[in-house]
Amino acid sequence: MAFGKALAVAAIVAVTLVVLLRTEHDYASTKIFSLKKGDIPQLGLGTWLSDRDEVAHAVEYALDNGYDHIDAALIYRNEDQTGKGIKASGLDRSKIWVTSKLWNSDHRKDKAEAAIQKSIADLGVDFLDLYLMHWPVAFVPDEGTRLDEGTSFVDTWRTMEDLVRKNYTRHIGVSNFARADVQAILDVCAICPYAHEFETHPYLQQQAFVDWHRAVGVEVIAYSPLANTNPTYRDKKGGLVGPIFEDPFWTALAAAKNATVAQAVLAWGVRRGTVVIPKSESEKHIDENRGALEIEFSKEDMEAVAKQDKKVRMNDPGKSWGVELFSDLDDPTELDGDDNEL
Ligand SMILES: NC(=O)c1ccc[n+]([C@@H]2O[C@H](COP(=O)([O-])OP(=O)(O)OC[C@H]3O[C@@H](n4cnc5c(N)ncnc54)[C@H](OP(=O)(O)O)[C@@H]3O)[C@@H](O)[C@H]2O)c1
Repeated sequence: MAFGKALAVAAIVAVTLVVLLRTEHDYASTKIFSLKKGDIPQLGLGTWLSDRDEVAHAVEYALDNGYDHIDAALIYRNEDQTGKGIKASGLDRSKIWVTSKLWNSDHRKDKAEAAIQKSIADLGVDFLDLYLMHWPVAFVPDEGTRLDEGTSFVDTWRTMEDLVRKNYTRHIGVSNFARADVQAILDVCAICPYAHEFETHPYLQQQAFVDWHRAVGVEVIAYSPLANTNPTYRDKKGGLVGPIFEDPFWTALAAAKNATVAQAVLAWGVRRGTVVIPKSESEKHIDENRGALEIEFSKEDMEAVAKQDKKVRMNDPGKSWGVELFSDLDDPTELDGDDNEL
């Protein structure tokens, strides 16, 4: 009798949980990954290098087909077109997660507010969900990449906290920070980073760094999630790694899952708990990448992928800026090494 009661209670709790999860997550994706309403969706559309003539359609198409998260930045010089795509989708603002980024030339207090206002206006939204400090590097305004020694990223963080207080953005975060740099923000923040967007993919896994973010409560947004597929990365590192789409490990794993390599790689990113933001201008790829949310990864698959890490960074403008980036991470900037620019 007692056992029967316990079973009944367990069944009611299970049903209630399912109902709660379904009603709390009202994003358009078919699978429920976020547990709390308002969490960042685990799949977004990237827009770096998206052609100004193509990006509006790509954004509209993605939002019409289950995406609910757009990753933008002022420096991509296409936020106005991205905004046209958001508007054309007709989706209610509350159903879309929109991220933008503060560029290096706008770190000073007087510049930052104007910069976020421009991003908000161009994107055609009233507020952002997330505003990221694009790099832990400040440039003197209107002087190219001359370093602004008088503005620290901690100063800029305080400026960004004010942007939350003024309701320009729901959350703030960082991008391309070393671990010590994130810690320096955590040590002083009144409004703490919601997320850190950095390069991570099967060839630069940085698992310990990803796990550390989980421990300190900061979401990880994985940029360039398709590894070296971005055409600007093609000849990086002197051909040290071939295209991931031709990698025998990944072609075999994808075939075993009846998936494409892009889907398998993105599914791995989701399974490890990172947010993935593949860029695409192609309807076919946008659909294909969304299919990644349907692919399962076992513990054994995860262990096999962990052995494939090549610790190779594709995106490091540090040398051209004269700044040592990623100093406590895999493949840091080598100021005397080969060029590996953004
Ligand atoms: N915070 C930062 O500093 C930072 C730095 C880099 C990137 N990001 C963000 O992260 C986003 C993604 O990174 P990313 O653009 O460097 O690289 P990515 O998303 O890993 O790769 C993009 C490339 O993959 C192609 N592609 C996409 N889906 C494909 C598929 N299913 N099959 C074959 N090819 C496919 C795209 O071409 P098509 O357009 O033809 O599909 C494009 O050439 C960026 O767009 C940007 O929003 C942020």
